[in-house]
Amino acid sequence: MSEIRRIAVNTGGGDAPGLNAVIRAVVLSAERLGWEVVGFKDSYDGLFEEDGVVRLDRRSVRGITHLGGTILGTTNRGDPLNWPVEAPDGTVTHEDRSQQVVDLIEKHDVDALIAIGGDGSLRIAHALSELGLPVVGVPKTIDNDLAATNLTFGFTTAVETATDAIGRLHSTAESHERTMVVELMGRTAGWIALHAGVAGTADVILIPEIPYDMDVVCRKIEERYASQRSQFAIVVVAEGAHTAEGSMKYKETAEGQHRLGGIGKMISEQIHELTGRETRELVLGHLQRGGGPNAYDRLLALRFGAAAVRMVQQGRFGTMVALDPPHVLAVPLAEAVSRIKTVPLDSDIIQTARSLGICLGDE
Ligand code: F6P
Repeated sequence: MSEIRRIAVNTGGGDAPGLNAVIRAVVLSAERLGWEVVGFKDSYDGLFEEDGVVRLDRRSVRGITHLGGTILGTTNRGDPLNWPVEAPDGTVTHEDRSQQVVDLIEKHDVDALIAIGGDGSLRIAHALSELGLPVVGVPKTIDNDLAATNLTFGFTTAVETATDAIGRLHSTAESHERTMVVELMGRTAGWIALHAGVAGTADVILIPEIPYDMDVVCRKIEERYASQRSQFAIVVVAEGAHTAEGSMKYKETAEGQHRLGGIGKMISEQIHELTGRETRELVLGHLQRGGGPNAYDRLLALRFGAAAVRMVQQGRFGTMVALDPPHVLAVPLAEAVSRIKTVPLDSDIIQTARSLGICLGDE
């Protein structure tokens, strides 16, 4: 194995609480081995810019463990494997720039890359690794939908934020005898909605893994009002939830792009129409990604960062660090990006929800 002198780190995709803690752990662990560290700004974009590759040392990562966001910036646009190129006539085609990215990284004398990201960013990291770049991945996403790791950092902080919001909605829902619908993040996996919904004692939780039936949802709400004990209801819905026949709900942006979202409003309106109950809806949105990491995510992020440096030191490239409690180990990147980790239908938390009488929209 060739000697490591300089490594790089970058953060890609949507941000998540704990990114800065990983960066700090990478820099401090690398410095102890006598290595230099550079960071690429905004995922790989920095490689194409004049000042986009920055030196990171102990001073530049001081006091950032508890901070949200990422000091390197991130983007979920501009995939190097599918780079948009605009022709003079305005037409846009896509080209694979991955070899160019590898060449640029080598030009910066980088011996290994630690790529922190979710499924999209780790897919890119995997492609770069297939081209011969020594890469170690670190799993990040509030959605917790990455395969091959028990948890991604950022998830438990997002669950805490969402649980707190659901808790606060109870009192206003009760005062006004309303049904409140909360839309949470989660495209194809309902981890946040399920965990926060159960912890926040929701009455109905709708996740992408379990297609819902509106009649079942309304029956649950009516039963609750009819019980005389509670004249309000809380419905938690993951943004990717859908009926058996229906597809996910998208809304159009000002630029004409389609973005996932709007299911909360739709369900709120349907409950009002079908039950006559007064409803309101809330989209928690990017609050779930914002703010600093909780203690668990700080620790997990620091463990992942330190472990990634150990993997580089051991030459274990083409891998991703992963939590396999109580251990942090390395798994092949190929395995991590092979599928999205959805909530298993026989999981204990699904069973817990059903035992508690929470409606999951199917029965
Ligand atoms: O991080 C993943 C995620 O939180 C999804 O659940 C959500 O749909 C998406 O990011 C939104 O990202 P953005 O608005 O930054 O494109």
